[in-house]
Amino acid sequence: MRIVLMGPPGAGKGTQAKKLAEAFSVPQIATGDILRAAVQQGTPLGKKAKEYMEQGLLVPDEVITGIVRERLKANDAEKGFILDGFPRTIPQAESLDKILEEMGVKLDAVINIVVPRDELIQRFTGRRVCPNCGATYHVKHNPPKQEGICDKCGGQLIVRADDDIKTVEKRIDVYERETKPLIDYYKDKELLVNIDGNRPIEEVFEEIKGLL
Ligand code: AP5
Ligand code: MG
Repeated sequence: MRIVLMGPPGAGKGTQAKKLAEAFSVPQIATGDILRAAVQQGTPLGKKAKEYMEQGLLVPDEVITGIVRERLKANDAEKGFILDGFPRTIPQAESLDKILEEMGVKLDAVINIVVPRDELIQRFTGRRVCPNCGATYHVKHNPPKQEGICDKCGGQLIVRADDDIKTVEKRIDVYERETKPLIDYYKDKELLVNIDGNRPIEEVFEEIKGLL
C-alpha cells in the first residue's frame, strides 16, 4: 500500500493518514510532523525550517526531499507507506518519482481530499494537537474525552503555532499556488482519486478504505 494524501491545509490529511496507517499496518510519513519535531528539538533542520513554517511558507525542496528519501528507505516503509504533506511542489513530485524508481516500487494512488475554503478556516480555529504523540482533535468535530487532554497519551493539548488566522490564510494561498498544480500532474499519471472531505471523519475514512 503506497499512497500519497493530498489536499489543502486542514483538509484532514493527518486525521485520515493516522487511521489508514493503522488499518493497513504501514507507517504514516508526515513531513509537517517531522519538521515540527525538529523545531521542538532545536536540531539544525529545525532551525532552518522554523522561520518558513512560522510564516506559512514551504521549506525549500532540497531540504525536505533529502529527509523523505531517507525515511522511505527505512525498513518499516518496505511494505508501504502513507505520505502526508509530501510532495507539495512539482520538483518534489519529480524527486519522489526518482526515489520510488530507485526502490523499484510504484504508487498505488494519490488521494486528493477536497474541502471548500470556508470550511477549512473554521477547522483551524477548533484544532488541538498533542505535542507528545501528534494526535489531532477538533473541539467540536472530534473532541478528546477530557477537555485539553490527549486520549492516547495523556499529554496537554495545544494550538499549533501556525494555526492563527493570518498564517492559515497564507498557507492556503501557498497551497493554491504551489501544490494545486500536482492535481494535474497525478491526473496525467492516472493516479489521482478525488474524495469529498467535507463530511464526517468516519465517512471520509470508509470511502478511502473502500477504494484501497
Ligand atoms: P503540515 O503539517 O503538512 O500542514 P498542512 O498541509 O498545512 O496541513 P494541516 O496539517 O494543517 O492539515 P491536515 O490536512 O493534516 O488536517 P488535520 O487532519 O489536522 O505542514 C506544516 C508546514 O510544514 C508547512 O506550512 C510547511 O512550512 C512545512 N512543510 C510540510 N511539508 C512540507 C513539504 N513537503 N515541503 C515544504 N514544506 C513543508 O485536520 C484539521 C482539523 O480538522 C483538525 O482539528 C481535525 O480534527 C478536523 N477534521 C479533520 N477531518 C475532518 C472532517 N472530515 N470533518 C470535520 N473536522 C475534521
Ligand atoms: Mg497535517
